Amino acid sequence: MQIFAHRGSSGTRPENTLPAFAEAVRIGTDGIELDVQLTKDQQLIVMHDETVDRTTDGKGAIIDKTLAEIKKLNAGSWFNDHYSSTKVPTLKEVVDLLVARNYRGILGIELKTDKEAYPGIEDKVSELMTSQQWPFTYWYSSFNVSTLERIHVLEPTTRIDFIMDKSDSTPITLERPFIQGIHPNIEWVWSHDTEIPEFSLAVRPWTVNTEEEIKRCMDCQVTGIFTDFPEMAMAVKRSYRGKK
Ligand code: G3P
Ligand code: MG
Repeated sequence: MQIFAHRGSSGTRPENTLPAFAEAVRIGTDGIELDVQLTKDQQLIVMHDETVDRTTDGKGAIIDKTLAEIKKLNAGSWFNDHYSSTKVPTLKEVVDLLVARNYRGILGIELKTDKEAYPGIEDKVSELMTSQQWPFTYWYSSFNVSTLERIHVLEPTTRIDFIMDKSDSTPITLERPFIQGIHPNIEWVWSHDTEIPEFSLAVRPWTVNTEEEIKRCMDCQVTGIFTDFPEMAMAVKRSYRGKK
């Protein structure tokens, strides 16, 4: 079972920041997940929410701010004062960090187009990701199927997974052969556990943060999990031997 650091090691570092990604690399997670959004001046930044309110000392929508304005914000103190000099990273800064640390795992790039459309975000992300070779593998995911269709046209051979909302009872992706996996809310796993071993798509639920849930996911034979506590999850994975 693959362990993905959700927004980096977001349970122990400020989410979607360089310290969170550096920590995931140190731990040696199978994968690292991040969320990409687009600024007013069309720059790709890594942040989960569509506004800067929750994870910085600023206020307002990303789409109304330039990268220079966002770079002035403190993206760490909301989590812990130790990270008061931490900034919001660009996608380029994150991949540069992974290259510098020779990360060999999987980078899961989520395009956050479910609330803001961010026209052109797919072209910009693909332009960066196809600009050079990387030591890591990367793939794309989104809650927005139109985004996935666009990215598939741009990069027909790059892996694409669909993220299912809590309200999605069935994976609509089954009709789209280019989608190779689903990221369901963990509740979906508990109600479909018997189907998962034979499921036609890879299943990687979010967000799996307790030891008990991680063990249940291993028993259910999911392909991977997204967790905010990847160091703990990697330890559970190493030691758990399955249902007694
Ligand atoms: O891909 C799994 C997960 O990242 C989806 O949820 O809201 O944390 O981006 P969210
Ligand atoms: Mg995400």
